[in-house]
Amino acid sequence: MTLQRNYILIVFILLLSLPGCYIYINRLKVTEHMPTIHLIKTMKKINLKNIKTSYREMFKSKEHKNTKKPVLEKLNFGFNNINCSYIGVQYFRSRLGNIMFQYASTFGIARENNLCVLMPESVPRKSIDFRSYFHLSAIPTNTGLPIASQSVSLKKGCCIFQNSYMQLNNTRNYTLSGGLQSYKYFNNVQNEIRKEFKFSKTVDEAANIFLRNATPNLNTTLVGIHIRRGDFLKHEEQGFVVPHVSYFNNAMKYTQEKFTNVHFIVCSDDIKWCKENIKPTSVTFSESNEAIVDMAILSKCNHVIMSTGTFGWWAGFLSRGTVIYYKHWPRKGSRLAADVNISDYYLPDWIPMD
Ligand SMILES: *[C@@H]1O[C@H](CO)[C@@H](O)[C@H](O)[C@H]1NC(C)=O
Ligand SMILES: *[C@@H]1O[C@H](CO)[C@@H](O)[C@H](O)[C@H]1NC(C)=O
Ligand SMILES: *[C@@H]1O[C@H](CO)[C@@H](O)[C@H](O)[C@H]1NC(C)=O
Ligand SMILES: *[C@@H]1O[C@H](CO)[C@@H](O)[C@H](O)[C@H]1NC(C)=O
Ligand SMILES: *[C@@H]1O[C@H](CO)[C@@H](O)[C@H](O)[C@H]1NC(C)=O
Repeated sequence: MTLQRNYILIVFILLLSLPGCYIYINRLKVTEHMPTIHLIKTMKKINLKNIKTSYREMFKSKEHKNTKKPVLEKLNFGFNNINCSYIGVQYFRSRLGNIMFQYASTFGIARENNLCVLMPESVPRKSIDFRSYFHLSAIPTNTGLPIASQSVSLKKGCCIFQNSYMQLNNTRNYTLSGGLQSYKYFNNVQNEIRKEFKFSKTVDEAANIFLRNATPNLNTTLVGIHIRRGDFLKHEEQGFVVPHVSYFNNAMKYTQEKFTNVHFIVCSDDIKWCKENIKPTSVTFSESNEAIVDMAILSKCNHVIMSTGTFGWWAGFLSRGTVIYYKHWPRKGSRLAADVNISDYYLPDWIPMD
């Protein structure tokens, strides 16, 4: 049997257990890298009888006999059985941090407006198996979007909060696009977002093992440092910036003065540069972990020093600790700067440094 890259098997088991109003859909998904079992919990009271019928129909129907992904829209699963309007986002062909922002903001906007969140079975970027990383509760459908003719399209630039998105009309369906990079979209449901982004077991264990080996002793304060370089070095003309080594030195000094027994964990897309330039006395470099494992490692640190970019942003947010960011992003007067409101982007208690 050849292992296909993506779905080999999707098994649906409906459990009627627990408080009768919830349904648990247990999807067994085997991927090349990470066999995971997901538990997706829908958010609304639904009619179990209808759901069961839909599934039975689905497995019976000839049309879907060879389908590997569930074709929920065609079967009207969810649409008929869950009495709510829908919201989805057009996911970027982009990387982890950006996709996390799109998911979290769509989730927050949905909560604020009593809408149900849709999500595609897989996000467009093939190298990111987003659903398998976390415990996401969004309803999986093929496109992850409401049917176009029934939805209102909302589109804006990357990082300026649109208050109007918090006042949608829940008799309509919505399709969002754009970066949605403001914590204000999910400020009221931060704890739920942290639950959505609880790492899958495989990721969690890989991070725990790394940290256990990296941590000198039990009294250590772990400070994660994320150093984004790579593609940002190529896009400086647009307003992206990469902090100088002096920023990291200042931020490290600050944490060493504030906390005891600091041990640094460095994750980066340019670890060679880091090893040549970041030289505190007590440090471990993460050298060969997948990006998602690096995210988990950083988020398990007590505090985070980010550089620029959404990857470090999420590591900081999930850590719940002190977060330090580089204050000269985006470059003043740049194209990017017109698209960003810093007070919408960073949480108010995060610390800007240079
Ligand atoms: C769906 O909800 C709306 C408003 O909450 C209600 O008026 C309608 O009767 C419900 N429809 C069904 C089929 O339950
Ligand atoms: C929202 O989408 C659902 C599912 O396609 C559909 O039944 C409903 O009529 C749509 N609502 C509106 C207002 O278009
Ligand atoms: C929501 O949309 C419905 C149908 O288009 C409309 O009747 C209603 O007035 C709208 N509600 C608000 C608060 O705009
Ligand atoms: C941890 O710190 C406490 C108080 O500072 C000290 O008593 C204890 O010996 C330390 N333990 C280790 C393993 O360093
Ligand atoms: C950024 O957002 C804050 C808070 O909403 C607002 O007061 C400020 O005017 C905005 N700044 C810009 C440049 O739009």
